Amino acid sequence: MPNTIIVGTQWGDEGKGKVVDFLTEHRDVVVRAQGGANAGHTVYNNGQKYVLHLMPSGMLWPGKPCVLGNGVVIDPLGFLKEIDDLEAKGIPVTAEQLKISNAAHVVFPHHRGLDQAREQRRGKGKLGTTGRGIGPAYGDKIDRSGIRVSDLIRPDRLKAKFEARHARLGSQLDGFDLPSVEETLESYAKAGERLAPHVTNTVAYLHHALKEGKQLLFEGAQGAYLDIDHGTYPFVTSSNTTAGGACTGSGVAPSRIDEIIGVCKAYTTRVGAGPCVTENAEFSDRLHGMGREFGATTGRKRRCGWLDLVMLRFTTMVNGLTSVAITNLDGLDGIDTVKLCVAYELDGERLQLPPIDAEDWERCTPIYEEMPGWSEDITAAKTVDDLPANARAYLDRIAADIETPVGIISVGPDRQQTIVV
Ligand code: IMP
Repeated sequence: MPNTIIVGTQWGDEGKGKVVDFLTEHRDVVVRAQGGANAGHTVYNNGQKYVLHLMPSGMLWPGKPCVLGNGVVIDPLGFLKEIDDLEAKGIPVTAEQLKISNAAHVVFPHHRGLDQAREQRRGKGKLGTTGRGIGPAYGDKIDRSGIRVSDLIRPDRLKAKFEARHARLGSQLDGFDLPSVEETLESYAKAGERLAPHVTNTVAYLHHALKEGKQLLFEGAQGAYLDIDHGTYPFVTSSNTTAGGACTGSGVAPSRIDEIIGVCKAYTTRVGAGPCVTENAEFSDRLHGMGREFGATTGRKRRCGWLDLVMLRFTTMVNGLTSVAITNLDGLDGIDTVKLCVAYELDGERLQLPPIDAEDWERCTPIYEEMPGWSEDITAAKTVDDLPANARAYLDRIAADIETPVGIISVGPDRQQTIVV
């Protein structure tokens, strides 16, 4: 069984949590290597709904080791709430099962404050962040003024570093309702004490696991077009959401990776601002009317559109996908004619790949190819042969375009509603 990276190929919310949950049975350790509580993974298991933000979805498998790598940013208070919620649902979170990197960076209240203040200041040009302090926390990391989990669990160091950081805020957050320095230190030190049994050198832990022949599953958060380098900058998150980020964010080298699965919705969605060439109001209304496509973290309505092959071609390259998992195929049930965006038009030119600048992306118009849809409800399909011929043709068209096989098809939210090709 291989070491596998799972990445989102679009703007997040592709259903990675479900694919990770499904594959976890066949892997030994689940790793999250980037992002923070901006992510929202919804997983249905035995009729119970779980919304996880920072917690790897592997935690829903009894005893399966899960790792938060050095590349994630952790809001300890929010994360403890996630732990408490899981435990309240009968899922114990033990120090054996959950390991947290001592080198991961900590999200503080001032990061959330700065995130929200900067969004307010951007006015109409706002990015639509989740307001969880992700950008400012990664900002401190890159600026080399961040505070890490190894500091969080040592109250003296935490105090010295936090007071120094806080002093440098100046008047940036005047008027913002933030807890006092003393309150923050007290609650964070307590959180550090609770999390301490989980904290370790996760690079060494993962290498030891590899040496023992254990198989790793890297659970990507967000999607390729939210990548700080390869996404629709500046309408992106602040981490590397593409496959390379799994390696830097965990300390597991690229040479150890065998398989990279790109998770792709059968159509396109995005939350937050920024370009979305195939966005379509009628299609969005249809999905929202079905009770689908509301953000798991913020509850916001997602913007929806037809599948964009221009985007998918580029993410296939950047991530080096070995296969794709097509999710939410059932969201297209009952549509007479489905559309696929096969190219963009920009200033009279036909583009096969997306432009680099968000300004140019915004000006692109989609060039569509139409395919006949299917009227059947596919949510009970167990094999590819159970799918209507038109649904199979749709999947074949996607795979041919990106020269990458479809390995998994998801036809509903439950673990059972998954077809392995
Ligand atoms: P941030 O990550 O909160 O800084 O937000 C930056 C952009 O990434 C915004 O457009 C968010 O809506 C988007 N974003 C962050 N996390 C997710 C996610 O898990 N799913 C979808 N969009 C996300």
